[in-house]
Amino acid sequence: MPRQLFVTTALPYANGNFHIGHIMEYIQADIWVRHQRMLGNAVDFVCADDTHGAPIMIAAEKAGVTPQRFVADIAAGRKPYLDGFHIGFDNWHSTDGPENHELARQIYRDLRDNKDGSLIESRTIAQFFDPDKGMFLPDRFIKGECPKCHAKDQYGDNCENCGAVYAPTDLIKPYSALSGAQPELRNSVHFFFKLSDPRCVEFLQRWTQDGKLQPEVANKIKEWFTVRSNPDGSTSEGLGDWDISRDAPYFGIEIPDAPGKYFYVWLDAPIGYLASLKNLLDKRGQDYENYMANPGLEQYHFIGKDIVTFHTLFWPATLHFSGRKTPDNVFVHGFLTVNNGEKMSKSRGTGLDPLKYLSLGMNPEWLRYYLAAKLSARNEDIDFNADDFMARVNSDLIGKYINIASRAAGFITKRFEGRLGEVTEDGAALLHLLRGEVGTIEQLYEAREYAKALRETMQLADKVNAYVDANKPWDLAKKPGQEARLQDVCTVCIKAFRILTCYLKPVLPALATQVETFLNIEPLNYANIVQPLKAGHVIGSYQHLMQRVDIKQLEALFEAPEPVAAPEAALPGGEAIAPTIGIDDFAKIDLRIAKIVDCQAVAGSTKLLQLTLDVGETDDAGQPRLRNVFSGIASSYEPAQLVGKLTVMVANLAPRKMKFGVSEGMVLAASHTDEKAQPGIYVLEPFAGAQPGMRVH
Ligand code: MSP
Ligand code: ZN
Repeated sequence: MPRQLFVTTALPYANGNFHIGHIMEYIQADIWVRHQRMLGNAVDFVCADDTHGAPIMIAAEKAGVTPQRFVADIAAGRKPYLDGFHIGFDNWHSTDGPENHELARQIYRDLRDNKDGSLIESRTIAQFFDPDKGMFLPDRFIKGECPKCHAKDQYGDNCENCGAVYAPTDLIKPYSALSGAQPELRNSVHFFFKLSDPRCVEFLQRWTQDGKLQPEVANKIKEWFTVRSNPDGSTSEGLGDWDISRDAPYFGIEIPDAPGKYFYVWLDAPIGYLASLKNLLDKRGQDYENYMANPGLEQYHFIGKDIVTFHTLFWPATLHFSGRKTPDNVFVHGFLTVNNGEKMSKSRGTGLDPLKYLSLGMNPEWLRYYLAAKLSARNEDIDFNADDFMARVNSDLIGKYINIASRAAGFITKRFEGRLGEVTEDGAALLHLLRGEVGTIEQLYEAREYAKALRETMQLADKVNAYVDANKPWDLAKKPGQEARLQDVCTVCIKAFRILTCYLKPVLPALATQVETFLNIEPLNYANIVQPLKAGHVIGSYQHLMQRVDIKQLEALFEAPEPVAAPEAALPGGEAIAPTIGIDDFAKIDLRIAKIVDCQAVAGSTKLLQLTLDVGETDDAGQPRLRNVFSGIASSYEPAQLVGKLTVMVANLAPRKMKFGVSEGMVLAASHTDEKAQPGIYVLEPFAGAQPGMRVH
C-alpha cells in the first residue's frame, strides 16, 4: 500500500533572500521526498513565505512600501533558487494568503471554544509603548543600558557585552530603537494559550516522549517540563502560558471578536503549512477536509534546531486542542556554517551566496551531493569546507561513480552500435551484490542517514572499479579475438552504473534523468532495478555527464565582491555620503520647526544674517523665549524674504560665542560643496501645517 505523506520545510521569513542555510534545509527535505516517490509513495511537499510580524512591518515601513508589497517582492525572488537547486516543492504559498487567515481564525475559535474548557485566556499585562510611534515595542526594539555591566545601547532581552539575560523593564534609561523616544509602560489585554493547563502538560509529555522524536531533541524538551528560565534570570516550574496576541499596528491576522488584536506571528506561521497545502489542493480540485481526514495521512516537518519549541510544544498543542491531526514527526537538523565560519546570521547568511554559486556555472548537484555526504539523522551542525567540497566531488562523485560510465560506454557505442552483451560470471556476482544492497540504501534514506547511504554507494562503486581494473577493457580492446569479452565486461559496467544511479537518484535527480535518457530506460526506482537490462538492449551515445570542480570556481565563489568606487563626477552634491550611523546617533540631534520672527543684516559681515527664532519655548515666567542664531546665508537671501517663514533648526547645539554675539543653534540649509560649481544656499522650509516646536524625525 503506498503511503500518503504531507511534508514541509520551515517557512522562511519574507524579509530577505535565501541563504545557504535555507537551501540546505530544502535539499535535505527534497532528498527525502524524492526517496519516498521512488518507493511509490504519494507526497505533497509544500512551503510558503512567513510574512507576518513586527520586524517585517518595520522593514516595509523603512523601505517606504506596504508590508504586502514588501513580502510580494521577496516572494518574487524565490524561484531561481528553488529551480536552480532542483528543489521540487509542489506549492509555494504565503502566510498572508486567505487560506491562512481563515484557518488561523478557525483554529483559534476551536481552541477558545474547546468543549472540555477553553485553552485561551485573556490577561492584562504591562508593556513598553513608544509614544512617538504609537505602538507597543517588541523586546528587540527596546534598547538601553545593561543593568548588570552598564554597557550602553543593549537590546531589551539580553546584553551582548556581558551576556546577562533580563526583561526590557530592567534596562536603565530605556529608549525605543525605532524613534529614540523614552518608552512608557502601558497596560494592554493579551491573549494566552494555556500551555500550563494539566491537559496540555499531560498531552505534550506524551507527544514529545513517546519515542518518535530524535533522542537528543526529546531530551532537551524534557527540561521544559521541569524548569524554565525566565528573562530575569529566575526559574519557574513547568510550562508557561504562551502569549499569542499583539496590539495594532501589527502586520498579521486579526483575532476573532477582538478588534485591534492580532495573532503573534508564531501562532499563524505553522498554520501556514496547512494553508499552503489547502491552496495546492484547491488548485487541483481536491477537498482539504477529506484529505486531512484520511487516517493514513502522515505529516512531517523539516526544521532547524532554533525553532524546536515552536514545533514540538506550541504547534502540536495548537493542533490537538483544536481537534486536529498532529504531526507524525518533526525532523530537526543543525546549522550549516561555511569554511569554519561562525553561525550565519539568520537574515544575512555569510560566505556562500547560493545565486552566486549558480551564476558561476557551478553544478547544483555538486552541492546536493556534498551536503548529503555530511547529513545524518542527528541534530548536529555541519560545515561547508571548500577543500573538502572539491575533494568529495572530484574524487568520489566523478572519480568513482561517473568514471564507471565514461570508461565503458565508449566501447559499447563505438564497437557494438550501442548494443549490450551478456553478463560475465564474475560480473553476475558483482551485480547481484549491488542489487542486494537496495534494502539497506532504502532504509538509510528513510532514516535520513544520507551520509551513510552515500558512503555505502561509494563502497559499491569501489567494487565496480576493482572489476574494471581487473578486466582492463582498454587492453581487451587491443587484443584480437576478445570482442565478445570486451562487450560483456562493458555490459557489466553499464548495468552496475544503472544500479548506482538509482541509489544516487534522490540526491542527484537531474543527473539521474540524463542517465535514464542515455541508457534508454524507464525512470529508475528501487523496484525496477531488479529487472536487469536484456542482452541486445541499445543504449544512446555517451555524453559527458558531469564536470569536475575547478579550484578557480571556488576561489571566485568566496572572493569578496569588488567595492564599487563611485566616480568623482557621481558624488552627490559634490561629496560622498558620510559613514553610516545608527538611529540612536541620529536621535541625539534634536531638530525643531522654528519660526523666523525677525531677520537682520549683520553690520561688518557680508556672509551672516542674524535670525530671531521661535521654537515654541517659554521661560520660567511663562514668557515666550526666542533664540538668536547667526547663519551664513546672506549671499542668497534678503532679510525681508525670510521673516515670517518656518524652517528647521538644530535646537540642542551647544551655544557658540561669535564675534557678533552668541549663536544659540543652527538653521538647516542645503548647498553644493563646491559653491563655484553650483552656487546658492537653500534654507529648508517644512510642508504646510508644521508648527514651531515640533520635533523633526
Ligand atoms: N519563519 C520562521 C519559521 C516559521 S515555520 C512555521 C523562521 N524563518 S527563518 O528564515 O529564520 O529560518 C527558516 C529555516 O532555516 C529554519 O528551519 C532555520 O532553522 C533554518 N536555518 C536558518 N539558518 C540556518 C543555517 N545556518 N543552517 C541551517 N538551517 C538554517 O525561523
Ligand atoms: Zn551587560
